[in-house]
Amino acid sequence: MGKKFITWNEFYELGIESIDEQHKKLVDMINRLYDAFMEGKAQDITDEILDEMEEYAHYHFKTEEEIFSEYEYPDTETHLLLHTVFFERTSLYKEEHNSGKENVHYKLLDYLKDWLLNHIQGADVQYVEYFKKQNITL
Ligand SMILES: [Fe+2]
Repeated sequence: MGKKFITWNEFYELGIESIDEQHKKLVDMINRLYDAFMEGKAQDITDEILDEMEEYAHYHFKTEEEIFSEYEYPDTETHLLLHTVFFERTSLYKEEHNSGKENVHYKLLDYLKDWLLNHIQGADVQYVEYFKKQNITL
C-alpha cells in the first residue's frame, strides 16, 4: 500500500507504552478500513473491523481502567462513561450491519477517526497530564 490514511506520529503518543501500543492498533484498523474503502471492498471488511472494535474495547479499556483504579484517577467515572458510549456505538453499528444496512463502513470510519482525535487527544491526554502533575510515572 502507498501512503497511509493516518500515519502514527508523536501527536498520538501518550508516553505510556502499553497504551500507545494499543492505540496503534486502532490506527491500524482505521487504515485497513480506509484502504479497503479505496479499493471498493469496505463492505467485505466491515464484519472484521466491528469484531476488532469490540475486542479492542475489551482489552484496551480494561488496561486504562486498571491504571485509573491503581492510581485513583479522580475523573474515572467520566472517562468510563465515554468507554461505555464506544461499546454502545459498536453494538449499534454491528446491529445495523447485520440487519443488511449498507455503508455502515462510512460511519465506522468517521467514528473511529473522531475517536482518535477527540478521545485519545482529549480525554486520554487529560489523564496523562494528571498523572504527570502527580509525579506518577507509568
Ligand atoms: Fe480512554
